[in-house]
Amino acid sequence: MTATLDLFDDGGDEPACLPLGEGAMVLRRFALPDEDGLLSAVQQVTAQAPLRHMVTPGGFTMSVAMTNCGDLGWVTDRTGYRYDRLDPESGRPWPRLPEAFLRLATRAAAQAGFDGFVPDACLLNRYEPGTRLSLHQDRNERDYGQPIVSVSLGIPAVFLFGGATRSHKAQRVPLAHGDVVVWGGPARLHYHGVLPLKEAGHPLTGRCRINLTFRKAG
Ligand code: SIN
Ligand code: FE2
Repeated sequence: MTATLDLFDDGGDEPACLPLGEGAMVLRRFALPDEDGLLSAVQQVTAQAPLRHMVTPGGFTMSVAMTNCGDLGWVTDRTGYRYDRLDPESGRPWPRLPEAFLRLATRAAAQAGFDGFVPDACLLNRYEPGTRLSLHQDRNERDYGQPIVSVSLGIPAVFLFGGATRSHKAQRVPLAHGDVVVWGGPARLHYHGVLPLKEAGHPLTGRCRINLTFRKAG
């Protein structure tokens, strides 16, 4: 009994691991000890590949600003969604995946039961108050046997985590600075999104939320 409690309860108000269903969970504050290293790596990446507002195939400009690092970067434009080795803005390869990113993503995946996760792509999202990400699946990756690892930094957000179909009712999961969500296995293609962010500030990021989503894309 106490062993189970120790594993899933950090003694605070929230459990350290919140299951969202088979194959999906929130690791509360998992990234907190690494916040400085992660945020300085974010600075390095965005200095080389600036955040930008991409356009969807339907012609809408996304409210969330995005960039990438790693061998592959997720991009959208009028021709569709895809992974590309080159940043279309600069024509150069995306910045390398920082060591601090790689270590955290592999550790979080292992903690969630996915050993040996080595991402080759990291989508970096910046949300300002009022911005949102509508319900979608991550399905441009080659191997659905590999999980998605998603790290939240900065101001809070409400993550929507649904099911295998768009109509499945989504759970509303509040996410705070340092929280990590992992989904894979039977949950790998589950719909997810982010509700419009409320006005807020954070001492390390200011008026925004930074989300890092790690994938094995190629
Ligand atoms: C995503 O689905 O790419 C991002 C999810 C998030 O910002 O939490
Ligand atoms: Fe996604």
